[in-house]
Formats: sequence, C-alpha cells, structure tokens
Amino acid sequence: YVIGIDLGTSAVKLLLVNQNGEVVQEVSKPYPLIQEKTGYNEQNPQDWVEQTIAGLADLLREYDGNPVDIEGISFSGQMHGLVLLDENNQVLRNAILWNDTRTTEECREIYDIVGKERLLEITKNPALEGFTLPKVLWVKNHEPELFEKAAKFVLPKDYVRYKLTGKLQMDYSDAAGTLLLNVTEKAWSREICDLLGIDVNICPPLVASYDEVGQITSDLAKATGLVESTRVFAGAADNAAGAIGTGILEDGKTLASIGTSGVVLSYEGSDDKDFQGKVHYFNHGAPNAFYTMGVTLSAGYSLTWFKDTFAKEESFDKLLADVRTVPIGSNGLLFTPYLVGERTPHADASIRASFIGIDASHERKDFTRAVLEGITFSLNESIHIFRENGKIIDTIVSTGGGAKNEDWLQIQADIFNAKVIKLASEQGPGMGAAMLAAYGCGWFDSLQACAAEFLKEDKTFLPIKENVEQYERLFTIYQDVYKQTENLSERLLPFQR
Ligand code: XUL
Repeated sequence: YVIGIDLGTSAVKLLLVNQNGEVVQEVSKPYPLIQEKTGYNEQNPQDWVEQTIAGLADLLREYDGNPVDIEGISFSGQMHGLVLLDENNQVLRNAILWNDTRTTEECREIYDIVGKERLLEITKNPALEGFTLPKVLWVKNHEPELFEKAAKFVLPKDYVRYKLTGKLQMDYSDAAGTLLLNVTEKAWSREICDLLGIDVNICPPLVASYDEVGQITSDLAKATGLVESTRVFAGAADNAAGAIGTGILEDGKTLASIGTSGVVLSYEGSDDKDFQGKVHYFNHGAPNAFYTMGVTLSAGYSLTWFKDTFAKEESFDKLLADVRTVPIGSNGLLFTPYLVGERTPHADASIRASFIGIDASHERKDFTRAVLEGITFSLNESIHIFRENGKIIDTIVSTGGGAKNEDWLQIQADIFNAKVIKLASEQGPGMGAAMLAAYGCGWFDSLQACAAEFLKEDKTFLPIKENVEQYERLFTIYQDVYKQTENLSERLLPFQR
C-alpha cells in the first residue's frame, strides 16, 4: 500500500491505495479559513499538522492489514501559501494562502524593481497576488520585526512533511509557484532575491517530487500506528499532483479541474513555448516535464457560495437536478465568477462577479445553470489562450466537483468544444500523491506506467454541434462582461466590508 495525502484549502484528504491503484480507504479532515478582512485568506499551519496526524491515525485504525505493508507516503498541497519559519523552524505567523489578494502593491514593486520581462525570463510567470514572493514582500513591508526573525519559508505541504519527518525541503513543482525559482534551471534565483533585498538562504533545499526525503519520526509512528520505516517522498503542488493523478503525462493531454479554484492544465514536454505570461508555466511533478495552466479563482467556490447563500438547506444534487430543464444560456442570464477577483485571463484582484440579464421571469434554476455556465466560460478563457497560441486542445480530462454531475460534464464538452473524459476514480491530486509514492517505491518504471495501471476511463462526453455554436456566441458576450464591469468593480471597492 501507499498513502496519498492531499493538503487542500478546506480539508486534508488521505487515501490508502493498493498495488492495483484502488482506493481502499479514505479519510477527510477539515480545517478553517481565517478571513480577517476582504482579500485576506490565512490558515494556521498547526491545524494542517494536527488534522493530518488525526487523519493518518483514523486511516490506520480502520486498516486491518500489517502497517509494515504501507510502504510509502507522498503529498499534494495547495500551492503558493507562505509559511514563515524562524531559525528553530517555529512558525512565525499564520500562513498567507494562494487565494489571498492583499499583495497588489508588492506585485507592482516586483515589476518596478525586477522588470516584467526579466521576471518572465527567469520564472516564466507574471507577478500575481496569489504567488508566494509578493507575500514574502508583504510581510517584509508590513511586519518588518517579524520578518527579521524569518530564517526559512516553505509551502503548506512542505511544512506538514517537515513535521512528519523532521526534514525541510521543497519540490520543484511547488517551488515554481513561488516566483523565486528559475524554472528552466531548477534553481533559486539569487538575482531576484538580491534585487528585492531578500536573503536567498530563506529558500529551502530543492528536491524532485518523487525523491525520497526521509522516514517518519518515531513520535509520529506512535501517534498514528505507522511504522518508522515508512518511506516519505516529497510530493507535488496540487495541480502537478492532479496532473499525475489524472494521467496528464504526455503532450496532447489537458485537464479541466473544478475544485474550490478551477484549473485548465496542459502537459508541456519542454520549457521553450512562449505564452507571454498569459498562462502559468510550471515544473511538472514528472521528470523533465512542465505544464501550462490557467486559473479561475472561484470555480467550485462560486457554486458553494451560491448554494450557501441562496439554497442552504438543499443538497447539491437537488440544486443541480433542475439544471437540465433550463436551456443553454440560462434564459438570457449570464454569470461571471469573479467573487474574489480573477487570475486568468484577467489578473485582477479588484474585479467582482456579476449576474447580467436578470429578468422577472427568472427562477432559481436559471441562476444555478448560469453559475455552472459562468464557471465553465471562465475555464474556457484558458483554453482560448492555448488555442490562440497554436496548441491543439481536443481531449480534456475533467476532474473534481465539476466531474460529479453529468449535465455539467456535457456543458463542459459543449463550451470547450472538445471531448471530455470522466475517469472511474475521482481522486485527482490525492491519487497523484499516491502515484508519486508508488513510483518512488519502485512499483513502476515510470509515472506513465503507473497511470496505465491505476487510472481507468469511465465515460466520455462529446460536444454537440448546435450547442457549441450557441455557446460560442454566448462566450463572446461573457468575455465582454469583464470589460464592462472592470471599472464598476473598482468604484464599488470602497463600499466593501
Ligand atoms: C494555482 C492555485 C490554486 C491552488 C489551489 O496557481 O493558486 O490552484 O493551488 O490549491
């Protein structure tokens, strides 16, 4: 067996996976978000550690085999979150998460000092509020006394792994999302650190996702029932782990993942394509590979927000059951999912969501369908960028909450104008983490061989020509909503909580 630990934004999910790739046990443990102000999103790293240990203990309690047979553990983690540590590796403040947008000023500072072009050359990515470097600068600018004490920074799953093994590292796929990594050279950029007055030594040692980085501590073995010889592999950023766990391991493969955030991710065998920073370009968890990706900040979150605000008592299944009775275009209602700003294609922390076209005849189900369509249009913006730059996107694996509903899967096929595949097992990043452990343990010669054994297709959804044509027209209107509401959102900002 291997264990895949997926440290998400709302919960940590743990999977016990056997040699056939079957999930034999699954545990999920939630933890809270701390939102002190609009745009602030923090978590207490201690919560991650406690819930991961509790989750491992639960997994082991229910497991009736021999703990020695659990050979390896690896991780998937929410990206970009800043965990600052002092010289004794004690946490200095709450982690500032990927969906925290307080750092607009710091992004400007990075462009002013490093220059956008140079930044793109080194990191292959633009300065965005969500990334780690602007958060490091924010603490440096706003909490200088605390920053003085910072000896190292790590990302969320790296901190949890440190607490399980006593060893501190970061893997390339996660480091790529810090804006401090030279993505091509796979080395920290001393140039960026020097220019911004950051000591390069706060960057931790780098490892590959499938590298064995230690074994679990004896305390953890006691607390969980695992044996001390359990091998621990570094793991990957959740999007890289999601790519592994859905088989995005060769050119021509694309993933649409709808979790809290939404992602369209495409495999890149090389680092020499130029998307002018319009999509992210990160190191993959697989050897010598990369991926490009566009991000919708509020994907599944838009639907959760909608349900919590307007249909709290209802189940998701009931809410979504009505969607098929509403025609394409939700009877003229359009939603843009900018609840917390947006990333791709508009790197804009101030933009806010809208429903456009509300008519007296609209019912709740029109709004529900409009939310699903709006989230999917937003993901389609990334596909649009890929296609404009010559990439062929004709087959897309859909995963996450967005793959749980067949009507939504058909909406995706029609809006993306591509074949959409749903896999038999819907584990994404957690499965990717388990696959990294399986590969690390030597069960397979490659991650591709592991994917061939572990991942099975369940259903395929083909685009329907008339639907595609209608959605193409609606998509141009959707794209215009951003331009029309950009300025309005700015002006409304002072009135926000
Ligand atoms: C990617 C991103 C999100 C988080 C979610 O750049 O910010 O997908 O990784 O955990």
